[in-house]
Amino acid sequence: MLYASIRSVGAYVPKKILSNSDLEKIVDTTDDWITKRSGIKNRHIASSEEATSDLAKEASIIAIQRAGLKPQDIDMIIVASISGDYLFMPSTACVLADKLGIKNIPAFDILAACTGFIYALSTAKAYIESGMMKNVLIVGAEALSKFVDYSDRTTCVLFGDGAGAAVISATNDKEEAVVDVHISADGALQDFLITPGGGSKHPFSSFANSEKMQFIKMKGNETFKIAVRTLSNDVEEIIAKNNIKLHDIKFFIPHQANYRIIKAVGDAIGLKDEQLVLTVDRFGNTSAASIPMAMNAIYEEKKLKYKDMMLLDAFGGGLTWGSALLPFCGK
Ligand code: ACO
Repeated sequence: MLYASIRSVGAYVPKKILSNSDLEKIVDTTDDWITKRSGIKNRHIASSEEATSDLAKEASIIAIQRAGLKPQDIDMIIVASISGDYLFMPSTACVLADKLGIKNIPAFDILAACTGFIYALSTAKAYIESGMMKNVLIVGAEALSKFVDYSDRTTCVLFGDGAGAAVISATNDKEEAVVDVHISADGALQDFLITPGGGSKHPFSSFANSEKMQFIKMKGNETFKIAVRTLSNDVEEIIAKNNIKLHDIKFFIPHQANYRIIKAVGDAIGLKDEQLVLTVDRFGNTSAASIPMAMNAIYEEKKLKYKDMMLLDAFGGGLTWGSALLPFCGK
């Protein structure tokens, strides 16, 4: 029997840091408001020379090396992003494959906003368990600052840039297997989080430009309420379905959108504070990149060990959401 297993994690953030006090000088906001409402203190911002694939490349090199592999050992690349190098083609995964020196393997992008990394994990698991692939590189990478309107205080204080990558490999050892992944979506609430311009609905035009349609728009408060309810139900379900006890979960690694969402979901399901992984203060919301970046943070702090059980969850534009239970099997 073939199983999928997470072999490594790596991450990269651009050098420039944008702090809350920097933002106080740009829009009508305060460090106090941002900290209390979101838990965010800093976020990293890509330079004008850095595209999403550049961040993805740095995270991928680390993940491939930590998996004990060479780029040529990877047989599929999946990039989850809502801020790819190009609007529609080529995919960021194709650009990344070229930057890693990998040819002649499938490479494609997944568009599931903040849930993208869990969608990529689910896809990698399916390909590996069907025997079609052995080593799949999954990457969450975002240069969101390029799609943020820095005159809109309701969004610009939230988002940051970065990338996280993981190698998912085939194993025969059931104890190393990804236990379960659940993904879902509801398009009825598509306008809660939307980048309206540039697609076939509102192609680039002077009107789209004057309406600032190229930027991320969010109904923050409405999204907040649905996120807490949906995520709490989703994680309760995956835990119950797989007969996992709360104390078996070493780390709860949620999408890092807002400290209050993470704490509310953690409290709703009865997790202890030491099980919650929080990086939202340092990185802000990095959408599809936030879960692998948070996983990498505890790996580099030497807290995340072989076979530690991780519970992942995410919620984002689409709307999309998902959760996963998996032991960390990196060295
Ligand atoms: N500084 C100061 N005041 C602000 C700011 C700011 N940066 N932004 C908004 N305000 C004001 C509002 O105008 C409002 O003022 P009013 O009461 O006079 O109208 C007040 O603060 C409260 O605004 P709310 O939007 O109700 O604040 P809330 O407590 O909901 O926090 C936040 C906002 C942080 C955006 C929160 O709603 C949130 O985190 N939402 C969920 C985000 C999320 O999970 N997104 C999904 C993933 S992202 C993705 O998929 C890309």
